[in-house]
Amino acid sequence: MIIIEKIADLQAYIKEKNVTSVGFVPTMGALHSGHISLVERCVKENDLCVVSVFVNPTQFNDKQDLERYPRTPKEDCDMLQAAGCDIAFMPTVTEMYPTEDTRQFHFGALETVMEGKYRPGHFNGVAQIVSKLFDAVQPQKAYFGEKDFQQVAIIREMVKQLNYPIEIIACPIIREESGLARSSRNTLLTEEQRKKAALIAQVLTKSTTFAQNNTVAQTIAWVNEQFAHDDTFAMDYYEIVDGNTLQPISQWEQTDFVVGCIAVYCGKIRLIDNIHYKG
Ligand code: PAF
Repeated sequence: MIIIEKIADLQAYIKEKNVTSVGFVPTMGALHSGHISLVERCVKENDLCVVSVFVNPTQFNDKQDLERYPRTPKEDCDMLQAAGCDIAFMPTVTEMYPTEDTRQFHFGALETVMEGKYRPGHFNGVAQIVSKLFDAVQPQKAYFGEKDFQQVAIIREMVKQLNYPIEIIACPIIREESGLARSSRNTLLTEEQRKKAALIAQVLTKSTTFAQNNTVAQTIAWVNEQFAHDDTFAMDYYEIVDGNTLQPISQWEQTDFVVGCIAVYCGKIRLIDNIHYKG
């Protein structure tokens, strides 16, 4: 595996390899087995696997969140090497943003709900960096985790809007033994919080049984209720949405693709997860 910091070097190296398929996994580092599952799939399906490690400042609407975001470049490189990655692209902020990126993306109703509503500007920042990375790497396939369900929908829309000839591949959520969805942010939880955070996946799973005999509104209320008794948790939202449009539904029959998406604070750490009810 080679570590590259400059876009020009990255492009020269990829060109020199003269391969037919380049696969790409964008990450913000602090890698865990969720990322590695994407990397392994990328390695399997492409001649060359590029992984970017870049904590993108433009997608953080909360400065403290950016400051405390975990950074483990040495461990990241070891994990990438072991997973068979060919290129670790680790640019600096000035390499990716030599000047301010003033582009404004518009994703319509996809960005006015859930993460878009609670983290204003977040998806604009994601689109800024992912488009820059796509331009730099020019992959045929790019891999994203389904834990960030809304992000995948936004990226697919961006690819459509900008005519990128890139196949977006969404990969299943990888969970800790307790059920907690793997996230770089999990390392910021105390041991006790990490144990308690298993409640998130437990509640989502149980809610699929509850949903069989209850309405959408009752299921949302039931999920909220499960977090109300422990002040470790503070709910941002629980939404049950059409998985294609991301718009809240009121009847289970409204669509064949129904997903429940949660964002909840565990202490100071904001965690997200989701579950499929249908589709
Ligand atoms: O999902 C992430 O880690 C980030 O949003 C991404 C896609 C790497 C862009 O910075």
